[in-house]
Amino acid sequence: MRHITITQMAHHLIDINVTAESICADLTAGNGNDTLYLAKKAKHVYAFDIQAQAIENTKEKVKEYTNVTCILDSHVKVKDYIQETLDFAIFNFGYLPKGDKNITTMKETSLQAVQNVLDILHPQGLLCLCFYPGHEEGAKEKDYVLDYLLKQEQLLLSHYHTLQPFAPELYLISKRKEKQL
Ligand SMILES: C[S@@+](CC[C@H](N)C(=O)[O-])C[C@H]1O[C@@H](n2cnc3c(N)ncnc32)[C@H](O)[C@@H]1O
Repeated sequence: MRHITITQMAHHLIDINVTAESICADLTAGNGNDTLYLAKKAKHVYAFDIQAQAIENTKEKVKEYTNVTCILDSHVKVKDYIQETLDFAIFNFGYLPKGDKNITTMKETSLQAVQNVLDILHPQGLLCLCFYPGHEEGAKEKDYVLDYLLKQEQLLLSHYHTLQPFAPELYLISKRKEKQL
């Protein structure tokens, strides 16, 4: 037996929730690993990144799949590109591994993008957020986004975290069901 990383946990959540009918979004495509994982299971995947290199890497990774739309633009503009509800969405915050560490997700735009994704998330959909509080901007980003999310009574949050200082953290968010009368 062994511990699993938050990436493995995110992929496990995809395994048990995403089906051949699912519409998905990877809001931080990076090297395309999460996009590829989704593409193998989903009906369609929208993948966003602001870096041309990241979009090229993602396109290369999913070149055998016809169910992926790669978008070179900020995830803040998600509603400009997606005109359907999302069943599963994932943000893997931070900077491109082996890329320019100065091009990282930023707390204000990350929160706006999360809010926009929640607007188009299906009532039974899931939003997965992977934070990296081990670097300064990542810690601020996690606090800023969670400060908002924890105040939203209509949302239900679960948390996966290894109990080590500065370890990455995964949050899974769903919309609460209306109370049954
Ligand atoms: C940690 S990496 C993602 C890793 C990726 N999920 C993978 O599987 O390889 C974060 C990515 O977010 C991208 N990013 C930063 N700000 C963004 C924004 N406003 N909109 C979309 N992507 C952004 C970065 O360019 C970087 O590629």
